[in-house]
Amino acid sequence: MPWATSIEHRAFCPEPKAKSPMSAKLIDGKILAEKIKLELRGKIIQMDKKPALASILIGNDPSSELYIKLKAKACLEVGIEFSSYFLSEDCGEEKIFEVIDFLNKDEQITGILIQLPLPKNFDTDKIIARISPEKDVDGFQPQSKIISPTVSGIIELIKSTGENLKNKKVVILSNSEKFAEPFKPLMRECNVSYLSPKASSSELKAQSSSADILIVAVGKPKSIKTDMVKKNSTIIDVGINKIAGKTVGDVDPEVDKVVAYRSPVPGGVGPMTIAMLLANVYKMARG
Ligand code: GUN
Repeated sequence: MPWATSIEHRAFCPEPKAKSPMSAKLIDGKILAEKIKLELRGKIIQMDKKPALASILIGNDPSSELYIKLKAKACLEVGIEFSSYFLSEDCGEEKIFEVIDFLNKDEQITGILIQLPLPKNFDTDKIIARISPEKDVDGFQPQSKIISPTVSGIIELIKSTGENLKNKKVVILSNSEKFAEPFKPLMRECNVSYLSPKASSSELKAQSSSADILIVAVGKPKSIKTDMVKKNSTIIDVGINKIAGKTVGDVDPEVDKVVAYRSPVPGGVGPMTIAMLLANVYKMARG
């Protein structure tokens, strides 16, 4: 089993489904993340050499700054040492390489994370490739054996419903086909396909509304409507959008009238991504 998902499956313990018109059961990513963190804390406390994560933030995107703060807080909660390197948007590629090379060599640092997205003037793939593979806690490098925390977080959310996944149709609606790739080998028991939001509206609707599990990452607030989902399906909302200062997902909560489970935004994929990042940091430090 790939090791980022080897954290033992935790029962989500759904209560009996309500018979009210809004019947979806929300998949609580916060509770699941807290359980994972608690378990990690117990393991890290026993380690002589503590895991240490270094993060690099380039530029001053407010969302990225917030993510770094959340990651720092979560690391401290489980006993992972955390350090941050802040670079300005005009620092130049060489400066970033200098910081990465320094962290690659630092024996105290067991994991390195570069907060994405990078400002537009940088080549993301080239910069990520500079991280030593054994410290790449995001699993972004092609040869990496670990799974990206977003992907493993989503899989844990789906598993937590306790539904039988065999032969289920999984549709990944995303701007990037690259995002969908890791799900295929990890969800072998399912029939996983990628759907581009640029598909014709009839194709989009046909595919999304026949999915038993629909994973949505398109960055369009509340764009997945009730007529685009299958009855009793599971919906994983990866979108993070701001509307009038409020964070909303890509899925309209009205779908709750139709679907069986939905991961909400906030409180779904977000906390799980952080918990699974911590799990990766722990595993890479343990070796
Ligand atoms: N920005 C949004 N999601 C992620 C992630 O999973 N890892 C990193 N490094 N940056 C992100």
